[in-house]
Amino acid sequence: MYSYLNPLPPLMNGTLAKWAYVSLAALATLPGQFNRSAMEAPWATTDISDSRLSRTLEYLNTTDFVAYDQRFFDILGPNATIEHVQKLAFQSHEAPCYLKDTNQLFFTEWGPPGGENGTHSWQYLLDLDTNKLNKITTDPPTFNAHGCVVYNHSLYVVTDGHGDEQTGQLVKIDPRSLKQETLLNNYLVQPFGGFNDLEIDWDGNFYLTDSKSGWGREIVDFTPPTSPTVYFVERETFRIKPVHITDGNANGVAISPAGDILYVPDTGVSQYFPVAKTPYGKRELWAFDISKSGSVLSNKRLLSNPVSYFYDGVRVSRKGRIFCGAGDGVDVIDPESGFTLGTIRVGGGDNLAVSLTFGRNDLWIVGRGGVWHVRDIRERLDRDW
Ligand SMILES: *[C@@H]1O[C@H](CO)[C@@H](O)[C@H](O)[C@H]1NC(C)=O
Ligand SMILES: *[C@@H]1O[C@H](CO)[C@@H](O)[C@H](O)[C@H]1NC(C)=O
Ligand SMILES: *[C@@H]1O[C@H](CO)[C@@H](O)[C@H](O)[C@H]1NC(C)=O
Ligand SMILES: *[C@@H]1O[C@H](CO)[C@@H](O)[C@H](O)[C@H]1NC(C)=O
Ligand SMILES: *[C@@H]1O[C@H](CO)[C@@H](O)[C@H](O)[C@H]1NC(C)=O
Ligand SMILES: *[C@@H]1O[C@H](CO)[C@@H](O)[C@H](O)[C@H]1NC(C)=O
Repeated sequence: MYSYLNPLPPLMNGTLAKWAYVSLAALATLPGQFNRSAMEAPWATTDISDSRLSRTLEYLNTTDFVAYDQRFFDILGPNATIEHVQKLAFQSHEAPCYLKDTNQLFFTEWGPPGGENGTHSWQYLLDLDTNKLNKITTDPPTFNAHGCVVYNHSLYVVTDGHGDEQTGQLVKIDPRSLKQETLLNNYLVQPFGGFNDLEIDWDGNFYLTDSKSGWGREIVDFTPPTSPTVYFVERETFRIKPVHITDGNANGVAISPAGDILYVPDTGVSQYFPVAKTPYGKRELWAFDISKSGSVLSNKRLLSNPVSYFYDGVRVSRKGRIFCGAGDGVDVIDPESGFTLGTIRVGGGDNLAVSLTFGRNDLWIVGRGGVWHVRDIRERLDRDW
């Protein structure tokens, strides 16, 4: 038995996956010296004098699932497992979309050092029946895809743009024919800085996050025209307006199942020229109420700030749980209290969870190091649209 851990609930005895249940009460007072950077998971730190604690942290670094709250066991259940199904380069993989119709996973390799000086004119399509990975090029090609959502059997993808030729775009891709159609590439003649991600509500309206990451990683040459902004785009009319602006950075975005709350992490922590991250940069996960029109956000509140690193991709499950790519793993956050219920880990070391997509009782994580499949999750995750 390890110090600072609770016993696992009886239901979790004999699971295939390796679990731990952290005792927050036991951890509340630590003896001796300790020093964790906000950018590192608790178990990635070695600067500790208490040998019982270092033994526990070493153990935690070997687990698949770390619970902070009893509810994490209820969500994942005893049969959940995680498998590293595609071992790819230690660089960002992004824009995962689960395609139920064809049982495929769409995703991208994003930015430098891959592609041609960071530029990617292709994406991945993983056949989930055979685990065969294919590189695809849409017609016409989609450059520097960064975010993806499936809506009404189509892939909706946002891009950073491309060099000095193409600014950020919202495109629609037919996953069977790979025909691509541009839906939006400007805000009344103003170019975008470079899209990072998107969300689509029940009615098909868009929330697009315009960020400075593509500029900061030198995959587009344009100077960002404004500070990072979340735009609302009404599907029927293409009425468009900013709904949130930050002097940090825009990144993931996700809507609640009832369509009344928008979750937006700020990733001002990422600095450019030179590329750097410090614990003093913005990492907050904000929640907003959404107006009936969809186009006004109000009641901004700090829902959560990651235990470590920063939140990148965000998805909200059928029951309203918030799943965020958070470096060491995917954090699962309770939408009411904002507490982190637990972490789905991707193996530690250089592996890094960037974004995720839901199947019915599965989820796929993409990030530095490839693709992970979490299966046999007890709670249904996919939403009705
Ligand atoms: C787990 O189950 C085994 C038998 O299947 C039993 O011997 C052991 O005591 C159980 N452990 C806990 C913590 O309940
Ligand atoms: C923790 O480590 C950082 C970075 O080395 C250092 O600046 C800071 O003073 C340390 N804090 C404590 C409490 O030791
Ligand atoms: C776990 O799998 C077993 C064996 O297939 C099944 O009997 C059980 O109902 C499953 N438990 C949950 C919570 O899904
Ligand atoms: C890639 O970068 C190198 C070094 O800056 C440059 O020589 C080369 O032309 C670039 N290639 C493209 C396709 O931009
Ligand atoms: C879904 O797509 C079909 C075929 O393109 C179209 O006829 C239908 O109106 C779309 N439904 C919605 C809700 O957009
Ligand atoms: C955690 O585990 C990974 C994978 O085995 C390893 O590369 C890394 O060094 C470990 N981290 C620490 C702090 O022990």
